Amino acid sequence: MSSYQYILVERDERVGIVTLNRPKERNALNFQLVDELAGALEELDRDEEIRCIVITGAGEKAFAAGADIKEMADHSPTEISSGFQSWLRIKRIRKPMIAAVSGYAVGGGCELAMLCDMIVASEDARFGQPEILLGVIPAAGGTQRLARTLGKYRAMELVLTGAQVSAQEMAEHGLVNRVVPKSEHLNEAIKLAKEVAALAPIAVRLAKESVLAAFETSLEEGLEIERKNFSFLLSTEDRLEGMQAFIEKRKPNFQGR
Ligand code: CAA
Repeated sequence: MSSYQYILVERDERVGIVTLNRPKERNALNFQLVDELAGALEELDRDEEIRCIVITGAGEKAFAAGADIKEMADHSPTEISSGFQSWLRIKRIRKPMIAAVSGYAVGGGCELAMLCDMIVASEDARFGQPEILLGVIPAAGGTQRLARTLGKYRAMELVLTGAQVSAQEMAEHGLVNRVVPKSEHLNEAIKLAKEVAALAPIAVRLAKESVLAAFETSLEEGLEIERKNFSFLLSTEDRLEGMQAFIEKRKPNFQGR
């Protein structure tokens, strides 16, 4: 496993846990941190032992306070734009990722949580896109992912005013999966990750790919991707095992083949 300056990488059984580790700076996402995060996620994505990934922030005050404003102030527009390559690498991760959010998930922090496939938040978590207050707009998917989940009008209000929203409100809008008592977010996210990690890994990967297709294709193309993925899964050993285990009334033992 590589060593990193701004993140921590751990394993709990088949779950990879990546912690954004700049708590004094509210885990602000400087270029190196996002590059390290992309590298660590790619490494976990390749690791056959790992079946699901949790991303969290060190300390309870923030998941992440967004891009590092002080760093951006020192960089040219070209340098800032090239930093977004790392976000594309994170988008390409094929294993499910769960955000475990405590405190602020704002700006790029909210966008990173939304890049994950599920979000578990502690009851004190706050979400928002404050970029407009800085004279810019979200640039790591905020306008698009908020609009697709919250709808135009609520997304517009958040992006145009920079207002923060509670975990409970985000859960009501379908953007947060579970709101849990303070300090329980990581345990709950790991529990959810272990539930996914126990399932057939190829099916899990293709399930993620199929759901994500709903955001990037027409319904017809999405249905085609779903059907192709289903047909492919029929050729796996794990589907034979899953169906046989059901018939024999036992727990399946999935091998990822
Ligand atoms: N970049 C750089 N430093 C940051 C930071 C950020 N995004 N967020 C917080 N920090 C630093 C603060 O400057 C402060 O440093 P000092 O101790 O040296 O003064 C330290 O972290 C602690 O911050 P606060 O005292 O402000 O902590 P708080 O708990 O009172 O408030 C907060 C937390 C509400 C998140 C507040 O820090 C804040 O509003 N941060 C900025 C949020 C923001 O505007 N994010 C958008 C960034 S742009 C972006 O993300 C673009 C994109 O789409 C990718």
